[in-house]
Amino acid sequence: MTGKGGVGKSTVAIALGLLGARSGLRTIVVELANQERVQKTFEHQAEHFREVELAPGLFTISIDPQHSMDEYLRIRVGPIGHAIGSSRLFQAFAMATPGMRELLSIGKVWELAQLQRKTRGAAPYDLVIVDAPATGHGVGILRTPRTFAEIARVGPIAHQGRQIAATIADPSFTAIVAVALPEEMPVNEILTLADALDREGLELEHVIVNAVYPARFSEEQVGELDAALARSESSLGSTAVRAALSEHLRSDTQREQIARLRSGLESGIAELPFLFADPLGRPELEQVADALAAGLNEPDRAGEVVT
Ligand SMILES: Nc1ncnc2c1ncn2[C@@H]1O[C@H](COP(=O)(O)OP(=O)(O)OP(=O)(O)O)[C@@H](O)[C@H]1O
Ligand SMILES: [Mg+2]
Repeated sequence: MTGKGGVGKSTVAIALGLLGARSGLRTIVVELANQERVQKTFEHQAEHFREVELAPGLFTISIDPQHSMDEYLRIRVGPIGHAIGSSRLFQAFAMATPGMRELLSIGKVWELAQLQRKTRGAAPYDLVIVDAPATGHGVGILRTPRTFAEIARVGPIAHQGRQIAATIADPSFTAIVAVALPEEMPVNEILTLADALDREGLELEHVIVNAVYPARFSEEQVGELDAALARSESSLGSTAVRAALSEHLRSDTQREQIARLRSGLESGIAELPFLFADPLGRPELEQVADALAAGLNEPDRAGEVVT
């Protein structure tokens, strides 16, 4: 799951997690870069790098590169690895290597998605949802394993890099989903993202258009509202009508942008309503999950021109 800052990636990731668990899939929502947003939503005391069960079948983990490295060394190299990993010089070196943090994070995600888990005593998941950082960084993180494989060429890092890159590029295993707002710039960014992924040989499977305003009025009703505004003598009345017209305009603009997205992309597109609640709690997230289920099940409308 990727997308620009603040567009609703975490919200959609949690909703998708709820949907997965509801469908009977053992699901985990993975947060990168210490957000712990999922645990907070479920009023769970923030824990680090531990697979926490929030609801039946719904797990979460907050991943950071440091813990990923410790675990990797422990599993791959045993107690000596642990000793190396504890060396501050080694740590400083490794963490300063460009892309190493991303590689370690995506490496842990890969481990979570294995049917044969490397973590001792850990059970496999049916669905692993990754709440990835904002778009630019998101493509970077997907590309990192390949970069390492190409640079290292031989040896364990190259081998693992190749393995992870192949997993990411396999559409029967990995789906890249972008979350976007129905506005001009965000839509441009999604189109650019699709191109960037394409250059990496990756496919943008789905776009989730978040926070879509309802289309409340027909053109005829808008005409009536215009007329009502012209003859209104009460300031309260005028304010209410102006608010209605302004929301209508916004919803219209959003629909144009969604149409632009649909005509520019081959990916599936699902829409989620704007929810008038702040913050979004568990009931609202369940609502987002319902809308997501409906949107994802919609017959593929990709390329359809919406007027
Ligand atoms: N459909 C929606 N309707 C109303 N508010 C929403 C909706 N989706 C998300 N929000 C609100 O928008 C804010 C940002 O959402 P969220 O944290 O999910 O975005 P994000 O993309 O994960 O942000 P970041 O890039 O900071 O991680 C939150 O306050 C969330 O409650
Ligand atoms: Mg987030």
